[in-house]
Amino acid sequence: MPKKTKAARLKDTAAVPLGTERVKLLLPHNKIQKRIREMAKAIRSDFPTEPLLLLGVLKGAVLFLADLARQIPGEVTFDFIAVSSYGKDSRTSGQVKLNKDIDSSIEGKTVIVVEDILDTGLTLRYLLRILQQRKPKNLRVAVLLDKVERRLTDVHADYVGFPIPNEFVVGYGLDYAERYRNLPDVKILSLPGETR
Ligand code: IMP
Ligand code: MG
Repeated sequence: MPKKTKAARLKDTAAVPLGTERVKLLLPHNKIQKRIREMAKAIRSDFPTEPLLLLGVLKGAVLFLADLARQIPGEVTFDFIAVSSYGKDSRTSGQVKLNKDIDSSIEGKTVIVVEDILDTGLTLRYLLRILQQRKPKNLRVAVLLDKVERRLTDVHADYVGFPIPNEFVVGYGLDYAERYRNLPDVKILSLPGETR
């Protein structure tokens, strides 16, 4: 095997799978960056002269928002919101709690909600409902990943990076128990006991 460069060795240890966790590459960093440039172009061409407020959903969307914002020309500001699911069956109850609200008014503004991944869609449905009540001029959604198969509600994103299969993914902001967010790539995580 060829000797690895120092940079390659460092990258390997960016997030080390614990125990029997296994990760498999799904989307390499450069492919993500290329797609983000296209998404930024699409967003700006839909709103050529508008100031845009990118509204990131903490914490998963932080890396995506940081890269997307740098590719959109013109006036761009950002703010953040934090939500969590609760209830007995948090995956399907659709009960979402607002943990941190935005700092300023969105009335009359063109707002792009920036999310890491669209799964059941319940989080986004809740967010769009409360944001719409605040009378933004335009309200759009940009997600990096879309697990189309898992949707439980008819919410959709206006800008989608990649449709992905029904697998649990980590990296590039996405976590498993708060770990792996720092991986530069998106990877599929297989947990102990899973055969796939
Ligand atoms: P939804 O309400 O089911 O659409 O859930 C969306 C949220 O669930 C995302 O913002 C993520 O925080 C989390 N999530 C869903 N699927 C994954 C995954 O494959 N990896 C990591 N987090 C995920
Ligand atoms: Mg999230």
